Amino acid sequence: MSADPVIHALIPAAGRGHRFGDALLKQYVPLAGRPVLAHSIAAVWELPQLSGVTVVLSPEDEQFQELIAPLFPGVRTAIGGDTRARSVLNGLLAIKDSDPAADWVLVHDAARPCLPADCLRRLVKQGLGGEDGALLAVPLRDTLKRDDGAGNSSRTLERSGLWAAQTPQLFLIRRLIDALRQCFSENFEPTDEAAAMELVGARPKLVMGSSANLKITYPDDVHPVENWLREKHRKPSG
Ligand code: CTP
Ligand code: MG
Repeated sequence: MSADPVIHALIPAAGRGHRFGDALLKQYVPLAGRPVLAHSIAAVWELPQLSGVTVVLSPEDEQFQELIAPLFPGVRTAIGGDTRARSVLNGLLAIKDSDPAADWVLVHDAARPCLPADCLRRLVKQGLGGEDGALLAVPLRDTLKRDDGAGNSSRTLERSGLWAAQTPQLFLIRRLIDALRQCFSENFEPTDEAAAMELVGARPKLVMGSSANLKITYPDDVHPVENWLREKHRKPSG
């Protein structure tokens, strides 16, 4: 492993936000003064080892050039695919072309604008220690129920050892490309990068994330995210 790892950040932002369901795509909703995607880019930009940022966009994207590009002139773009995993693979191939010195990729969802700086630092510190990569995650807190298919609770599941995955997730670019291709050849659609790596036998490190690292999925996620961002930008540093 190189003594000075070069990390490129990849932000998949090519989703349609079906569960959010607003006229405005969730990655472009303005919160605390700027679009959600701008907060997500700014959060990863804090990392000193970063060689660049690539954002993956839908082919129909109409807002990036107007709303985001002027704020981050150095950010590169790639065109996404039908699923998150396809968008990530497209982005990885673009990074290989545009930034051949980069050996690691930090994948971070556009819809997770609150990423705390200490989580990012912890992930990178722990993740660079091995070849299987790492992801932010938090141990589950709630008691888990299995329904009976008719809206009734039929069983209580064992919670110990279960984690909720977050982003960013940090992997060697060449290994993640191989893992995603293997997934597609087996008709497996991973919902995060760690799932692709697990399929090929890797054991990514679970690094403690934070309940503050909120993701926007449904409309009622906006309020807590906005409160957190307002609070963060009130402080002199985040
Ligand atoms: N994403 C992507 N390409 C896709 C699907 C998703 O780049 N084909 C991105 C989203 O833009 C988002 C991240 O992956 O930043 C996580 O996806 P999710 O939260 O599921 O967003 P959407 O897919 O847009 O939402 P939904 O599943 O509700 O349609
Ligand atoms: Mg989705």
